[in-house]
Amino acid sequence: MLLITGANGRPGSAVVREFARRGEPVRALVRSAEKASAIAAPGVETVVGDMLEPDTLGPALTGVDRVLMISGAGPLLLETQCTFIDAARAAGVRHVVKFSGQDSVDGFDPERFRSTRSHEQVQRYLSASGLAWTMLRPSQFMQVYLEEAADIARVGELRLPLGATTLAPVDIADIAAVAYRILTTPGHEGRTYRMTGPEALDMDEVAGRIAAATGRPVRYVDVPPEERHRQWLAAGHPPPRAAAFAQLFAERRRLGRSSVHLDTHRAFGVRPTEFADFAARHAAVFRGAAAVAGPPA
Ligand SMILES: NC(=O)c1ccc[n+]([C@@H]2O[C@H](COP(=O)([O-])OP(=O)(O)OC[C@H]3O[C@@H](n4cnc5c(N)ncnc54)[C@H](OP(=O)(O)O)[C@@H]3O)[C@@H](O)[C@H]2O)c1
Repeated sequence: MLLITGANGRPGSAVVREFARRGEPVRALVRSAEKASAIAAPGVETVVGDMLEPDTLGPALTGVDRVLMISGAGPLLLETQCTFIDAARAAGVRHVVKFSGQDSVDGFDPERFRSTRSHEQVQRYLSASGLAWTMLRPSQFMQVYLEEAADIARVGELRLPLGATTLAPVDIADIAAVAYRILTTPGHEGRTYRMTGPEALDMDEVAGRIAAATGRPVRYVDVPPEERHRQWLAAGHPPPRAAAFAQLFAERRRLGRSSVHLDTHRAFGVRPTEFADFAARHAAVFRGAAAVAGPPA
């Protein structure tokens, strides 16, 4: 049996949908029964449990050979995933595929920031655990730009503190297609798969692609970092999260340019989704005519 954790979140729900679309059975871990309804589909067995509470994980881990381990990027990432690895090993799981990350900006040092450092620490913990492992390391999700849809729809502005920096965001749908293949085919133990999207784009180019998709003008506004930090706070992000965003964007702004890495797309025969296609798929959201329904993918 295969298990996906974080199954109602953005990447997790996309991987669950990929299994359902292909008629392949999968088990999906969620923290509460209400969260199961969003991913309910034939062949999807949802189980309730908490990765931080090993005693709750029996039903999720029984009979499981391979896990795709996802949890949120918050301050509990390290503890959550190390606790889960221990529980998985104790339950007889053979192989953990860790959903990690890797910034596309050249020269980015993951040890300098809490969330990226936590991923590195979990990777080291997993590789020393005795379990078979695979690391899946996508760059920024294209879906992150849906969080800017309200401003884009209201005033036609993409407001980010990024200067002329380029980023190479990747579509979660591409990551889900790769994750499906890693989970359902042999030969991925001990491998690390980095993924970016097919283009390194500055924010003028991102705004231009959203404008083309919506048929409305959208311009990039390079807002001062302090202003955007205040907006993240005003939007209700807890101070540590807003501060983490601000630090991450400041580093991207300082480093300036990204590289594209498509080896993983090629290795798994997945066509890299261009930002223009992603924007077209979500044009109604960027126009303000539709909400993001559930975790966007
Ligand atoms: N955002 C990006 O651009 C990006 C890029 C590359 C990699 N990543 C990585 O992708 C991962 C997912 O990020 P996201 O922002 O997309 O998160 P997300 O949508 O919030 O998904 C996280 C999932 O983990 C679940 N979870 C968290 N703690 C749990 C626990 N103790 N027990 C069971 N389930 C738990 C959450 O469940 P609840 O719904 O119950 O909270 C949720 O389903 C993170 O590790 C992040 O670092 C993100």
